[in-house]
Amino acid sequence: MLSNHIANQQIHAGYGGVVPELASRAHLQNIVPVIDCALKTAGINVNNLSAIAFTRGPGLLGSLLVGVSFAKTMALALNVPLIEVNHMQAHVLAHFIKKPGEIKTFPRFPFICLTVSGGHTQLVLVKNYLDMNIVGETIDDAAGEAFDKAAKLLDLPYPGGPLIDKLAATGNKYAFKFSKPNIPGLNYSFSGLKTSILYFLRDQTTSDSNFIEKNKADLCASIQHTIVEILTDKLLLAIKKYKVKDVAIAGGVSANSYLRNYLSELSAANDINLFVPPIEYCTDNAAMIAIAGYYKFLNNEFCLQDVSPVAGLSF
Ligand code: KG4
Ligand code: ZN
Repeated sequence: MLSNHIANQQIHAGYGGVVPELASRAHLQNIVPVIDCALKTAGINVNNLSAIAFTRGPGLLGSLLVGVSFAKTMALALNVPLIEVNHMQAHVLAHFIKKPGEIKTFPRFPFICLTVSGGHTQLVLVKNYLDMNIVGETIDDAAGEAFDKAAKLLDLPYPGGPLIDKLAATGNKYAFKFSKPNIPGLNYSFSGLKTSILYFLRDQTTSDSNFIEKNKADLCASIQHTIVEILTDKLLLAIKKYKVKDVAIAGGVSANSYLRNYLSELSAANDINLFVPPIEYCTDNAAMIAIAGYYKFLNNEFCLQDVSPVAGLSF
């Protein structure tokens, strides 16, 4: 990994969520400078590139279109092959990113990866770099969405996940109890939790309009504890079912400090090798797309110029 640049979009903060049209416009503005920056940091120029990897999906169609169109044009202009990458597979493969000279232990196949992001919550059985199956996933909201929507109910700005993480540090996780869903097998559900938080806050603020302000840290800690328990209950089931020793977490929510601590205690007690990515590879980043592209490159898995983005791309 020679460079890893991210162009963050502050423009959505005032809207309580990502505004798709604003996101694609910001991508248009950012894509040339960010690529320029990446090449400069890497100390190379475009003629040193062997291939261009890009995200085909899943994601917001307008944003994907910007990336796909740019990647196609660049590959055509440089006469190098084009590699399509699945965003969720890339989150998993972020575990294999290595900086020059870095010594690192990687998860051994097969392993289970809990991939938790703003749009997805998946339990993935990873048999090889490019051979993985989703063995469980959310039937409604994603874990990141649960964090962000709960944060919105607590009057916190978007994205609320990192703020809940921060505020929860001084709160009591047992202060309030929220019910957990009863979904069979390895699938998840988070929409019930969102509704129970909504009704709970509505009832409490009717009798005390300052309830949220007075109890913010305890509310954050209790909500975070519930989400993390929901996530780990199913992860433990998957570990038992597939009899794996190595377990990984990935995606934006894997940056959550409570989830990271909770899982490291749990894995120590259960003789599991836990792999937790550095924070910079948890949330969306370019290096994870590059590493997925690298394994596809080694496998000669290229795509043609007629490739188009797919908002709901699965694997
Ligand atoms: O993977 P990601 O960067 O983007 C998507 O592919 O969706 O994940 C973003 C999600 C957001 O919902 C954000 O609130 C959540 O990850 N997130 C966190 C934390 N950092 C990011 N949630 C809880 N605690 C965090 N520290
Ligand atoms: Zn992501």
